[in-house]
Amino acid sequence: MTINKNNINSETKKAAEEYVEHIFCQSDSDCEIVKILKKDANERVYHDMVDNPDEFKQKPQLLSIEPWNGTKPSNPREFLSKKKVVLPSLPQVLIQIKRVINDPQSTIEDLVAVISKDPKLVAAVLRLANSNIYNLSEKVDTPSKAVAVLGLKKAGLLSLGTVSLSMFKKSEVAVLELEKFWKHSIACGIIAQEIARTVKLGDPEHFFVSGLLHDIGVQIIFESEKSLALELIRVAETKQISFYDAETEVLGFNHAVLGGIISKDWDLPQTLIRAAKGHHDPEIIKTDPEAAVVHIADYIARALGYELGLSTTIGNLNKDALKNIGITAEQIKELIPEFKILIGETFKILTPE
Ligand SMILES: [Fe+2]
Repeated sequence: MTINKNNINSETKKAAEEYVEHIFCQSDSDCEIVKILKKDANERVYHDMVDNPDEFKQKPQLLSIEPWNGTKPSNPREFLSKKKVVLPSLPQVLIQIKRVINDPQSTIEDLVAVISKDPKLVAAVLRLANSNIYNLSEKVDTPSKAVAVLGLKKAGLLSLGTVSLSMFKKSEVAVLELEKFWKHSIACGIIAQEIARTVKLGDPEHFFVSGLLHDIGVQIIFESEKSLALELIRVAETKQISFYDAETEVLGFNHAVLGGIISKDWDLPQTLIRAAKGHHDPEIIKTDPEAAVVHIADYIARALGYELGLSTTIGNLNKDALKNIGITAEQIKELIPEFKILIGETFKILTPE
């Protein structure tokens, strides 16, 4: 029997459209930005379905996990105080980086002294300084040269983000795919940075780190109980809602609230706390530019395919967030190709080989 290639293509095209329709099912289909992202997703998903059809097959359930039998915690603090939730302690190097960033008297040498103690940080600043972003005629080979190229603030914030995220890397809970988590976090950081630059919200690097750390609460939930994590995924899937809506339904609060608490406990800069805490909160998004930018960046990152793999829908893009920072659909449309290039470039820099 001969296979009609056109038939296969039109079937795949239809399957891609249905898939995209579903991931955007909670989104406002009249919103111009949603329309632009949907169009982009249709092309991407179609090509992905042709290239990697296995990626789209239903994943087997993890049957070996006992069903979650917990009760709704009365508040996020109670959830965090349960013995099964092990919060990573703040490593010394993070405390030292924060001290350098917060002290206006700090010099490049102060930061180099801290970075040099951690090979991962040395690698991160060297890779970034030597990347195409800076286009140096000669490669830099020492942390002090790299920090000089990047500037004290950017190198400090990059180190802060790298250390904070890497703390969770030893997680034994395999439900959260760490590679996806890293990629989502980096993509959100890049998009937040470029949006902040476009609408002139001040220091774009701050927004990069806010995006990088915004979902730290997701890791806390996944560190707590494997059965709870699976229950959340199940609820998101059966009710066809976003992962954060499933969290609210099962726990009474979402990962953003937890992220806000832990970043406050860690004494991280206020801007990072607000972004982590507020990125799914409609009230905070209305007035806080940091939370609004990260909310938009988070949505765009997932629409572009950099999602966490925890739910099949990407939630909704809050219009108040767009109004708050004054970004237009036209501006987002122009930025999308740039987002993709920068995300690819930054993956190469920040993802360990
Ligand atoms: Fe989130």
